[in-house]
Amino acid sequence: MRRVSVCDIANMKAKGEKIPMVTAYDYPTARMAEAAGIPMLLVGDSLGMVVLGYDSTIPVTMEDMLHHVKAVARGARQSLIVGDLPFMTYHIDSSQALTNAGRMIQEGGAQAVKLEGGKCVAETVHRIVSCGIPVMGHLGLTPQSINAFGGYKVQGRGRQQAEQLLRDALALERAGAFSVVLELVPTPLARLVSQRLAIPTIGIGAGAGCDGQVQVLHDMLGLFTDFVPKHAKQYAQLAQTAQNALAQYAKEVREGAFPTSKESFNMDEAALEGL
Ligand code: KIV
Repeated sequence: MRRVSVCDIANMKAKGEKIPMVTAYDYPTARMAEAAGIPMLLVGDSLGMVVLGYDSTIPVTMEDMLHHVKAVARGARQSLIVGDLPFMTYHIDSSQALTNAGRMIQEGGAQAVKLEGGKCVAETVHRIVSCGIPVMGHLGLTPQSINAFGGYKVQGRGRQQAEQLLRDALALERAGAFSVVLELVPTPLARLVSQRLAIPTIGIGAGAGCDGQVQVLHDMLGLFTDFVPKHAKQYAQLAQTAQNALAQYAKEVREGAFPTSKESFNMDEAALEGL
């Protein structure tokens, strides 16, 4: 089966089909998400928090991202892979942005990149898109600006903020973005933006009016337990399941109950005679 393309994602909105998206960070998570029929995978810089243990996405580097994007590309052969451009890898100028977007595609094996911001990155988006690299925008709570926001707060509640968000979304669409993530945006505003844009909106904490949804895999599988964001639904508690399994393993090793002959290898003991 061929890989999902940005045209397929556009068609899904045109047909009124909701778009599920999830983050993936390595070979096994990419394999699982693809096998579950998820058409679009995000190698998000959220990996800085849920995989690498940083307290924000700010420390994540281009090299970190490439390492993980390559693993996801080895695991997912059909889902569309979007690689997140990390903090300060597209802000200096559009040449820097284009170089890093190119690396994400050429070295990493992603089919698209994501970057945060609205009007202020529109020119950069245009430059990357005109070189044949699809770009996903990201508005609302943009985690790379956490120091400016002063916390993970809902964005766009007031009239001015809402107007600005709509203007930014339209600017991204005009610049050629193929979709836009809306993070921590009130449901009515996200619905309005979704109706005004021809390109799909992908929500996270932005309500059911978006064209698609994205979730952080480690939140929804209960693998990240430091905190559970309000917008995340836990479909499983895998950290607890894994911890129970590991505790059972440790107990069996201590008691001599593991390994048994089933997990061991035999030989003709005559070969050991006289040793
Ligand atoms: O890095 C990430 O996982 C993201 C999603 C939260 C949209 O940007």
